[in-house]
Amino acid sequence: MSDPVLEVQDLHVHFDTYEGRHEVLNGVDLTVEEGETVALVGETGCGKSVTGKTIMGTLPRPPGEIVAGEIRYRGTDVLADEAVHDRIKREQMSMIFQDPMTYLSPVFTIESMMRDVVKYHDRRDVSWWEMFSDIIGRDSAENEEIRDRSIDLLRRLQIPDPEGILDRYPVELSGGMRQRVLIAMALINEPEFLIADEPTTALDVTVQDQILNLLKERTENRNLSMLYITHNLGVARQIADKIYVMYAGSIAESGPTETLFDAPLHPYTRGLLASIPKLTGFESEGISGSIPNYTDPPSGCRFHPRCPAYMEGVCEQSHPERFDVGTDHETACYLYEDGMTTSEALDIAESEVRYEPSRLVEAQHDGGGDGRGE
Ligand SMILES: Nc1ncnc2c1ncn2[C@@H]1O[C@H](COP(=O)(O)OP(=O)(O)O)[C@@H](O)[C@H]1O
Ligand SMILES: [Mg+2]
Repeated sequence: MSDPVLEVQDLHVHFDTYEGRHEVLNGVDLTVEEGETVALVGETGCGKSVTGKTIMGTLPRPPGEIVAGEIRYRGTDVLADEAVHDRIKREQMSMIFQDPMTYLSPVFTIESMMRDVVKYHDRRDVSWWEMFSDIIGRDSAENEEIRDRSIDLLRRLQIPDPEGILDRYPVELSGGMRQRVLIAMALINEPEFLIADEPTTALDVTVQDQILNLLKERTENRNLSMLYITHNLGVARQIADKIYVMYAGSIAESGPTETLFDAPLHPYTRGLLASIPKLTGFESEGISGSIPNYTDPPSGCRFHPRCPAYMEGVCEQSHPERFDVGTDHETACYLYEDGMTTSEALDIAESEVRYEPSRLVEAQHDGGGDGRGE
């Protein structure tokens, strides 16, 4: 079998800040196979974007530091050699970042940015002559072709008047428009591997649906593999073949999408599912508390202070390894043991993991899925 597109093993990333050292990523493991869409799901602040940026090689260092771990792209250890990471990133990877304004230049039109992305994405340097040629329009046939491709893509991203948009500057666009421009920039070169960090959070659900369909079509027909980052379990279910649930810097549970929804095992996964507000009824069950402070995170399993199945003398002692509980289904929780069948594990989950009903407002506040700060 060929190497997976992406393999992350035991990744630890810390940040040095005035408040002290933030121990954010605490052993992240994940794998994306060829042609697969993998979702990374968890509450705001659990380390999803840090994971994405570290894979993409855009983690700000300092304050960030990769303390331990491996990232392999098609078998190549990219953390071992920055030049190799940089080349792979330029030639094969693409990322839709969560905050569009940080990644769009205020002084260029959308058209000129799209053109630069197409012409120079795989290059480190651009000469003054090339830039000058662009300005005086020497490459007009090529530029025309890029313009047509951009319009086509913007139209498919449901942007009204794509021709008009190309002549505008980012400040002239709404947040949702900018987000879609960023998606277009990430897709126009047909990358082999895409990291999409909350790409649809700023958008209406109907537009979101169309964008998810466009991404799906790319993975099905153009051999795109994707790591899709979201706090929204519903979106993850819609797009992903496999889901990794992350809590405070490590993977709590992973499995094929349907397995994870049919047999959620980790108390955190069960809490997230329970806190999805239901359209019927006013109450919902949710996880109390919030993501821990990374300067002094809880010992052992970082979820133990919030966990309804906390076992004294066990959970705070050491970080649980991941146990195999069914085909491709793993969970890092001491309730389970390696080699259990899914139904044995589910029986344990149903008897041991109980969330108290709470007011809907409270559940929304604690449980993710509310779009805060995304
Ligand atoms: N540039 C930075 N400097 C210091 N701390 C950071 C930085 N970026 C991220 N962090 C820390 O990492 C935590 C996780 O952030 P992030 O990965 O953005 O979460 P999310 O899961 O919402 O994407 C933040 O709460 C913060 O403590
Ligand atoms: Mg984020």
